Amino acid sequence: MAKICVVGTGYVGMIQSVGMAKLGFNVIAVDIDENKVDKINNKIPPIYEKGLKKLLEKLVPSKMSATTDLKKAVMESDVTFVCVGTPSKKQGSMSMYQLEVVSKEIGKILKNKNKYHVIVVKSTVIPGTSENIVVKTIEKKSGKKCPKDFGIVMNPEFLKEGTAIDDFFEPDRIVLGSNDSKALKIIKKLYSSFKCPVLETSLKEAEMIKYVSNAFLATKISFINEIGNICKKFDINSNLIAKGIGLDRRISPKFLKSGIGFGGSCFPKDVNALVYKATELGYNPRLLRSVLDVNREQPLKLLELLEKLGKLRGKKIGILGLTFKSGTDDIRESPALSTIKELLMEEADLNIYDPKAMPQVKKIFPHLNYLKNGQQVIEDSEIVLILTEWPEFKKLNYGDKLVIDGKNVFDNGNVPKNYEGVCW
Ligand code: UDX
Repeated sequence: MAKICVVGTGYVGMIQSVGMAKLGFNVIAVDIDENKVDKINNKIPPIYEKGLKKLLEKLVPSKMSATTDLKKAVMESDVTFVCVGTPSKKQGSMSMYQLEVVSKEIGKILKNKNKYHVIVVKSTVIPGTSENIVVKTIEKKSGKKCPKDFGIVMNPEFLKEGTAIDDFFEPDRIVLGSNDSKALKIIKKLYSSFKCPVLETSLKEAEMIKYVSNAFLATKISFINEIGNICKKFDINSNLIAKGIGLDRRISPKFLKSGIGFGGSCFPKDVNALVYKATELGYNPRLLRSVLDVNREQPLKLLELLEKLGKLRGKKIGILGLTFKSGTDDIRESPALSTIKELLMEEADLNIYDPKAMPQVKKIFPHLNYLKNGQQVIEDSEIVLILTEWPEFKKLNYGDKLVIDGKNVFDNGNVPKNYEGVCW
């Protein structure tokens, strides 16, 4: 059975590690952050993700361990999954820094490894990166040749935070990009127990599929948000409109929930990177630019409703939810944070609660009023804003307080007495 090394213990690397270990492979996860490595070896998840703790408790150390020693991990394994971050730079292009560093390191290690090794790129990268950066750098540093001495496969991930473990074990599809039949055969074997379709493509096509999946889903969300904004003007409930169109199997009901827009580590970054690259290549991606424009303005729709009530200065406003969606402690690109910034500019007096993300947000906004539960936020505020769809917010007693809902929390009834939705 192949031994596996996973570089990077963020969301992607963590799930790939426990997923592969649960399938029975021996996995060594690598990270430069000693603190994360220690946590994993002590069976403590370095991120919050449903089911992760249980799997670590089961798999560490018998099937899985973590280390900062990349050399040891690559030398002792047959396949390396590269799962490092590719964050946005200021203008929206993608930073390749971590990928370049890891490729250089792997190249130096492979120089002294006499056994064939397969590199699998899982990080989201602009088409051409696996070939032009990863392979070229490894070849340069190792003095070896791809595909003779080492193999390369691009295998994008499609995991949603909050359901990432289920998504790993029940994927809609597995995409394997490679023009290297030996490497492909090895990676196909790793995934041989999966029943879903396996699509074989070139490296470039696999890289593009990831971007286009995210761009399409983001487009669906901005589309329904635009429709939601129009519906609001007509005094029409856009949830029913989404239901009405979603029943058409060509459209499907998924990713048609209107609200305060998409956030997270992927959609904003990936659509931005695609827009940036397309523009650089001489194409003006008008539709994708609009997807981002609609999304940027969407949290303001909630503030517009609030501003109708008069000046916000000194008003006690309750904030329920900080993460970009429920089921995660991730606040990256969360519309809740941009909403808080706007409210602070208006000098509103904020009371805040989130079940998972308060420690992280306290680091950004240390002087706000963080309360110990949602009910207290309601008691202490004049108006309550719901910015994340945590299920517990459905069960609170809102009394007569005005509730402005940005996340469609009450779509199945139990709506508070004094309630307004952002697009419904
Ligand atoms: C996404 C992709 O779904 C996943 O395939 C990819 O690998 C990483 O990016 P994730 O960011 O975890 O996953 O969350 P997702 O559930 O897709 O939601 C993204 C954002 O869109 C959230 O802010 C969510 O609240 C919002 N959203 C989603 C909507 O506003 N409406 C919807 O109908 C669906």
